[in-house]
Amino acid sequence: MCGIVGAIADRDVVPVLVEGLKRLEYRGYDSSGIAIADAAGVRRVRRTGRVAEMEQAAAAEGFRGTLGIGHTRWATHGGVTEANAHPHISHGDLALVHNGIIENHEQQRERLRALGYAFESQTDTEVIAHLIHHHMVQGQAPGTDPGRRLLAALQAAVKELTGAYALAVLSRAAPDRLVCARMGCPLLVGLGEGENFVASDVSAIVQATRRVVFLEEGDTAEIRREGVRVFDAGDREVRREVHVSDVSLASLELGPYRHFMQKEIHEQPRAIADTLEAAIDVGGFEAELFGARAGEVLRGVTGVQILACGTSYYAGLTARYWIEAIAGLPCSVEIASEYRYRDAYADPDHLIVTISQSGETLDTMEALKYAKSLGHRHTLSICNVPESAIPRASGLVCYTRAGAEIGVASTKAFTTQLAALFQLTVVLGKLQGRVAPEREAGYLEQLRRLPGSVQHALNLEPQIAAWAERFAGKHNALFLGRGLHYPIALEGALKLKEISYIHAEAYPAGELKHGPLALVDAAMPVVVIAPNDRLLEKVKSNMQEVRARGGELFVFADQDSNFTQSEGVHVIRTPRHAGVLSPVIHTIPVQLLAYHTALARGTDVDKPRNLAKSVTVE
Ligand code: M6R
Repeated sequence: MCGIVGAIADRDVVPVLVEGLKRLEYRGYDSSGIAIADAAGVRRVRRTGRVAEMEQAAAAEGFRGTLGIGHTRWATHGGVTEANAHPHISHGDLALVHNGIIENHEQQRERLRALGYAFESQTDTEVIAHLIHHHMVQGQAPGTDPGRRLLAALQAAVKELTGAYALAVLSRAAPDRLVCARMGCPLLVGLGEGENFVASDVSAIVQATRRVVFLEEGDTAEIRREGVRVFDAGDREVRREVHVSDVSLASLELGPYRHFMQKEIHEQPRAIADTLEAAIDVGGFEAELFGARAGEVLRGVTGVQILACGTSYYAGLTARYWIEAIAGLPCSVEIASEYRYRDAYADPDHLIVTISQSGETLDTMEALKYAKSLGHRHTLSICNVPESAIPRASGLVCYTRAGAEIGVASTKAFTTQLAALFQLTVVLGKLQGRVAPEREAGYLEQLRRLPGSVQHALNLEPQIAAWAERFAGKHNALFLGRGLHYPIALEGALKLKEISYIHAEAYPAGELKHGPLALVDAAMPVVVIAPNDRLLEKVKSNMQEVRARGGELFVFADQDSNFTQSEGVHVIRTPRHAGVLSPVIHTIPVQLLAYHTALARGTDVDKPRNLAKSVTVE
């Protein structure tokens, strides 16, 4: 869960590395560093804190170079210290940056210690630097080209590692190249004109090039100014397809917004419309939305098992209500990190659906592999990042079109996941013979109206910001919802705790009296999602239970919910009830509440403490 970038060019690459690291900060922001190499040696600068601090230090030291690597860290092995920050250096000769976790680092450390290597950090990464150095020295036959030795040393070293890694390495002995390797963590090579790059994702290098090669599992590569060579896990040179990325620079910039989270909340009408575009264009819900073979696969499905983490899991929970009610198929939803370690029941005809914004969440990836090992034949991934690991490992794919999501708290990814899952539901419903053309047309019409209704909900921002002022001084909050809106209560509580650090819990409103009601007093704000659906009267009774204990209610109702404000009962009305798509609309106010509460508390909204955007560790 770190970000890496590297460059070789005729120009000074330090600004490219620094800009790249700033774009990769979403992957980790504990510390950062860069190293440059030339025939005179390897130099590095590292700092704890944000990339901007390291940038200042690099400028003060007059850092310049035409070959360099950089890293932004989310600490796993070893605390947040400068000594643990990357790049790690071996014998002053070789510098390396790493994303991932090396599982056999302790054995390798013992072995390298016995060979005379001294360790300066507590990281698993330093082991790799020394191991490559060791192989480099071992391969020092007279006349052997040092560049070739560097690649061969990397290829030998990775065969002795277990775990996950994306690596970029440079050496004083071979100042005309970078070498890199990928296993279990994303890594791509960027192709420029007389300059080439390596990065964890395309956002890091998009200012320099859009032409990229995604490395595959086990690949290594040699990157020189004049060209790139890629080798497979057996060290055979291979050709990998060149992709032209459509990530735009504008999508990576803040524009008029204060935070990426705010920008991403406001992008939702567009993001949802883009995700729905294909269905709206063809005027219906065709299985091919999920891939060419999807009709054949989905027709035989007798149930659905959804696997995901965090916000994506809550999207899955919402989908369960839809899939069982509309498609008439049994649907289970499970947190990926739990599923992967239990003896799960597997019906080969149940479709495995993984949901992941990043496409690289380790627990979700491992749950997918585990499901396949249990005999599940059909897999479908709903993902926001093209070419990422989870969709690549899945039979069918639906890419949400949210665009780059940079704020750690997921917002537009969630609502676009809901849009994709609703489409999947209707496709399954049609294949099950439960959605007749008239009903399908009705759903399509509701989807057409969805971006507009989301925009109306966004217009409530000033009222919600006023509520947030009252939340800012609280220590705890409860979120209640029922049915389809219970997952939205969970999502609201997660958003609030993630970015404002207020302790928040969500319950199905009917469960309150079975325990959590004991928490309610005048200091406890209770957020209620109360749309005008068939459970509204039940929710109103649950609200009475809260009010009777002095709890203060903050109610998100629909225009037609028939609520009145009274002492201790605050009401904000979202647009007219949006039927089965109501959870999408009711997500917007809880996102805005969390955002404005965090703003009022002065937290780091886009980079909350202890978290990172992509969770590629257990
Ligand atoms: O990339 P993924 O969707 O697989 O990520 C899953 C969770 O880590 C993620 O949703 C996390 O809970 C977010 N920070 C929530 O805002």
